[in-house]
Amino acid sequence: MSITKESELLGMQKASEAVAFTLKEMRTYAQPGMSTKELDEYGAKILSGLGAKSAPYLTYGFPGYTCISVDNEFCHGIPSDRRILKEGDLINIDVSAELDGFWADNGGSFVLGNDIHQHQKLVDASKEILLKAINNIRGGVRIADIGYLMETEAKKRGFKVIKNLGGHGIGRSLHEEPGELLNYKNRSDLRRFKKHSVVAIETFISTTSTYATELNDGWTMVGNKGGYMAQHEHTIVVTDGKPIILTEMNGILN
Ligand code: CO
Ligand code: CO
Repeated sequence: MSITKESELLGMQKASEAVAFTLKEMRTYAQPGMSTKELDEYGAKILSGLGAKSAPYLTYGFPGYTCISVDNEFCHGIPSDRRILKEGDLINIDVSAELDGFWADNGGSFVLGNDIHQHQKLVDASKEILLKAINNIRGGVRIADIGYLMETEAKKRGFKVIKNLGGHGIGRSLHEEPGELLNYKNRSDLRRFKKHSVVAIETFISTTSTYATELNDGWTMVGNKGGYMAQHEHTIVVTDGKPIILTEMNGILN
């Protein structure tokens, strides 16, 4: 969406704070021995307490309220009472929701407890790349140039990007104009970021794979060549200068 009046900015701020607070609380709540279903139900309670409704549930009928992906799962992991979190797991939680007609999205990967499997380098790369991308987005900048920056920064750190996952416009629905914001330079993409527009910008940084493929459960995405992936996502408003990070309070980049 494009922000045209104060009430729209306020609406987006409220929806964004709801998803950001929920994500932050879920990350703190996650402990070894807990099932991803338990973690999801905790998040669902926070969302509903704030008057927000799960976006993947509303939009796609997702079998959960938040997406929780562990280890080899890249994204859209289904919360399950059989998936038990362990020390050192690479976990991704993605929370998106609708509140009073406004939609916001955020997510982040982190290592649970001690980093016994050495995932932190990948997580840090993804965080740094998201911050760099956000700091370079302003009205008039080519969308493909931000994709190029993300891919180049990933390569510099010895990682790859997933080519079939991307950020997206957001605001009045979960996915809207200007469409997908990919993590690489697509030469035929002439679109530019527009001032006042709201977008969800997200990294998809991986160790081995360059494509994500869906498992038989119809939701969970894993890598075409295996390995691990880290994602970090903020909902932002594009301006003439640095973007307004609407989901900043999630603390994913700290
Ligand atoms: Co998301
Ligand atoms: Co998103």
